[in-house]
Formats: sequence, structure tokens, C-alpha cells
Amino acid sequence: MNLAVLASGRGSNLAALLAARDAGTLPARFVLVGSDHPDAPALQLARDAGIATFALRPKDFPDRPAFDRALFNRIEASGADLLVLAGFMRVIDGAVLGPWAGRVLNIHPSLLPKYRGLHTHRRAIEAGDAEHGASVHFVTAELDGGPLIAQARIAIEPGDDEDALAARLLPWEHRLLPAVVALLAEHRLALTAAGVTLDGTPLKAPLRLTEHGLQ
Ligand code: GAR
Repeated sequence: MNLAVLASGRGSNLAALLAARDAGTLPARFVLVGSDHPDAPALQLARDAGIATFALRPKDFPDRPAFDRALFNRIEASGADLLVLAGFMRVIDGAVLGPWAGRVLNIHPSLLPKYRGLHTHRRAIEAGDAEHGASVHFVTAELDGGPLIAQARIAIEPGDDEDALAARLLPWEHRLLPAVVALLAEHRLALTAAGVTLDGTPLKAPLRLTEHGLQ
């Protein structure tokens, strides 16, 4: 499985994917890491790992479809089979996604369908939620809206602020994303007309990450 990753910033989820590969739990070859920010730390991380990188700036393109076409031209030329959005903070145009249905994953820091978009931790606290979490889903043109694959759930503790909650969730993200990508790399997970399937059986609910792995 050839993997391309898009990341807009820090790149801790990219680091987690690379660590899983190095540990032998993610059978994939990293062929390209791209960003919409030329100075994203994620790009440096990729370069340090010997992975080809590129950056395109949205402001250099007339509109979103033109940017996304250029982005996907690069990804397609890399020979990637699978694209992972690891902190990529842009909606992707539906026209480029079509041929990639079932081959683009995103991680989002909320229990989707709750709190699409930004400031998810703050919004969960302000709503008085008892639980928060992260979701991995197949990407569609709808912001944080594609079919759900797996979630990690954590309790919101009294006194949590958004930074504390985000910091407690992040290690769960770092386990969740590689675990889901591994299922795809092993051809166990698919997006079909019947929805998301694992080993050929449609999921009735998103998989859940526990201490023992995805269940
Ligand atoms: C992660 O928390 C990820 O879930 C989130 O951005 C962060 C990236 O961190 N993604 C989104 O909000 C996508 N809508 P990282 O750069 O350290 O991996």
C-alpha cells in the first residue's frame, strides 16, 4: 500500500503513522507528504524521515477547484493508493475526490457527527458534554462529514479547559489513526454500497478504540 499524507501544521499524527510503520504495525510505504503551508513542521518531519514532500499555497490558485486539482495531480503522480488527511485543515472539492472514494481518510477531534469544523474541544466543554473524542472517517466533499470508521472516546473531567482536553485526546488520536490506516493497508476495511465494511461485514456502528485496540 502506497500512502500519501496531507498535513497543515504540527504533524504529530504523521509522526504517529511513521512510528507505527517503524514498529511494524502499519504495512505501508510513505510515498509523499504534502501541505497547504510551506513552513508546516509536518513537512520537515517528513523530510527528516526521507519522504518526498511538496507544498502548494492556496493563494497561488484562482479558486478551490484549481488548488485541489493541482494537489491531487501531485498525489496521483506519486503512485499513492491511499491518502490520509492528518491535520489537513481544508475542505476538498468533490470533483477531485470522485475517483478516490473509499481511499481518503481524515482524523477529526470530535465524536462526529458532533462538532464538525474548528474549536471542537471548546465546543464539547461549553455544551456540558460528559464525553469527547476523535473520529476517523472516509472523506467526502462534506466538511468532516463522510462515513465513520472508528472513534476514541474520553471523559471530560471537571475543570478541563480546551488545551487540557486536547492534550489528553491527542495520544488517543495517535493510536486511532494508525490502527485504522493499518486496516485499510491490510485490505480489511472498505467503503462499499452497503457502507463501511470490516472483513466484508458492514459496520453497524463505528469501531471503538479501547486499551486493547479497535473493537
Ligand atoms: C489533530 O488534532 C487532528 O485531529 C485535527 O488537527 C490536529 C492536527 O494535529 N484535525 C482536524 O481538526 C481536521 N478537521 P497534528 O498536526 O499534530 O497531527
